[in-house]
Amino acid sequence: MPTSASAIKPWKAIVAMADKNRAIGLNGGLPWRIPEDLAFFKQTTSGHTVVMGRRTMEEIKKPLPRRHNVVITSQQNLPAPGFTVIHSLAELDGLPDKGELFIIGGAQLYAETLPVCSELFLTHVKGDYPGDTFLPPFEQLFAPVETLRESDEIKVVRYRNKALLPNE
Ligand SMILES: NC(=O)c1ccc[n+]([C@@H]2O[C@H](COP(=O)([O-])OP(=O)(O)OC[C@H]3O[C@@H](n4cnc5c(N)ncnc54)[C@H](OP(=O)(O)O)[C@@H]3O)[C@@H](O)[C@H]2O)c1
Repeated sequence: MPTSASAIKPWKAIVAMADKNRAIGLNGGLPWRIPEDLAFFKQTTSGHTVVMGRRTMEEIKKPLPRRHNVVITSQQNLPAPGFTVIHSLAELDGLPDKGELFIIGGAQLYAETLPVCSELFLTHVKGDYPGDTFLPPFEQLFAPVETLRESDEIKVVRYRNKALLPNE
């Protein structure tokens, strides 16, 4: 069910998903290593705020350089040097304004926030990759707006929340 326009936040989600099975993760990490997509992620999020779930933080281990790194957790004393630690999604509205706010995963955080994200930067990964973590359905919420880049391995598409688009 699409969200109403007034409920949409300026947040943008960014994610890479294998088209064949919707995989986004394997054994706590990414199922693939695609330098072209890592470069796109870095270029898009540098200078901005990146928000991640605690499990994704544990995978990346250190804060991403040149970005305001935010981790969400229910734990009161999570060791997370270099991260701003928050305990609820409501706290995202009170963060200092450091560029745009990107939701960078993982699956649990995407499931909670995609309905209210204004945009989705989705890297469609074309190959076959096993996974144990999958992207929740987004197709009912978002419409493709433009293809940003395409190669043999990936296609990067910018989607906009349907609640923000004129009615067809
Ligand atoms: N392909 C991609 O683009 C991409 C991007 C990012 C991650 N990933 C992959 O996704 C996998 C991890 O995803 P995941 O779903 O297992 O974990 P996750 O979303 O990274 O983290 C989940 C944790 O975040 C915290 N959390 C989430 N929502 C919360 C809320 N509303 N309030 C308080 N705490 C909250 C909880 O931490 P506590 O348990 O500490 O309370 C929860 O256990 C990994 O394999 C990773 O590599 C893929």
